[in-house]
Amino acid sequence: MAKQASNRIAKIKALFGFMCVPYLVAAIAVGWQALATPAVGELEEVDMRGKTVLITGATSGLGLWQAEVLARWNASLVLPVRDLKKGQAVLDRFTQEFPQAPAPVIMEMDLASLQSVRDFAEQYAGPVDVLVHNAAVLGTGELLRTEDGFEECLQVNYLSSFLLTHLLLPRLQQSAAGRIVHVSAKAHEWGNISMQDLRSRKVLDLDFPKRRLRMMGNLGGSYADSKLAQVLFSNALARRLPPNVVTHALHPAIVPTGLLRQADFSAVQKFLHDNMMQPVMRLVGFTQSEEDAPKTQIHVSTHPAIQDVTGRYYSPLSPPLVHCGQKAEYCGISSISEAAADRFLQEALFETSCELLDLNNGLCAESPDS
Ligand SMILES: NC(=O)c1ccc[n+]([C@@H]2O[C@H](COP(=O)([O-])OP(=O)(O)OC[C@H]3O[C@@H](n4cnc5c(N)ncnc54)[C@H](OP(=O)(O)O)[C@@H]3O)[C@@H](O)[C@H]2O)c1
Repeated sequence: MAKQASNRIAKIKALFGFMCVPYLVAAIAVGWQALATPAVGELEEVDMRGKTVLITGATSGLGLWQAEVLARWNASLVLPVRDLKKGQAVLDRFTQEFPQAPAPVIMEMDLASLQSVRDFAEQYAGPVDVLVHNAAVLGTGELLRTEDGFEECLQVNYLSSFLLTHLLLPRLQQSAAGRIVHVSAKAHEWGNISMQDLRSRKVLDLDFPKRRLRMMGNLGGSYADSKLAQVLFSNALARRLPPNVVTHALHPAIVPTGLLRQADFSAVQKFLHDNMMQPVMRLVGFTQSEEDAPKTQIHVSTHPAIQDVTGRYYSPLSPPLVHCGQKAEYCGISSISEAAADRFLQEALFETSCELLDLNNGLCAESPDS
């Protein structure tokens, strides 16, 4: 009896010991990295009255936090959402909390449907000064297809933003200072793109399920591929846009949002993640607060100096975003992966996206500036 009980205790100890190892290793790693991560700093407030900012994915996480700050700064917000009930809740809250700002325009747009993107662009007739491609899904690591037959992350995180940019470009061109912001991720560095898979199988890399990460699932798979596609797109776009419209990509922050809730944790892993890993990561500064996390995309979407450059990639992991000792437009500029900087890949992806979306006018008719 006593032997059985001690066997059981030994098993429980072994199980907890096993489960704690990755958390301990990760905690040491994040602590190490945190020492090298600069503080985000206070943003310069920009008066956004009269500017129309369209943000996708503003019902949750970074997009919502960005929208809140921009409402405080009096921007006219256009927030296309896939779930109108969630959109209505945002509208109700914003009209109460920010009575001085124009009420946001809430409209339906599901990025998993090309028809829905086209319908939105047709129905929204107003101006656009800043277009923020923020919405994304993490994906499951399985090959899931949208109604258009594309792999889910490819379409929601990248291809639909390509189509939306194409459709809204005439509006951005009418702006005195048009700006396109691609909320990508550091995870773009793990991405891979096979032009052959894209053309023949409508997926950025058919082998992506093999790159699944333990506990973070598709973060290293088709999610990373779609984030790479966003950076490639921004670079190819920079060569085609008129001088009054600029484009930038960025890594926002590491922060618990709806996105990480999609990670395929078991109940035990979720408990450990929420109650052990998250507090440690927050404590050492690896994950950002709700206040700091959206600052990079707010800064890149609003700071006047960022209109003087194009095709850049910003990150809070680089020198401070503000007061970095250089001209404001160069603060926070970060390097991109070798694949993202590959001009041949940038152009091949751009041209293939035009083909897949059956577009041959506007952006898709422009030849790139050298
Ligand atoms: N959180 C991080 O640590 C982190 C790190 C690096 C990069 N990022 C990037 O930051 C951006 C924002 O992510 P988040 O962390 O704030 O995630 P989030 O809280 O999950 O927000 C994602 C938003 O995208 C919307 N969305 C998802 N699928 C959509 C679809 N088919 N059509 C229209 N909208 C859709 C969601 O709408 P619903 O509310 O209807 O679901 C939600 O509003 C993403 O581009 C992400 O890749 C985040």
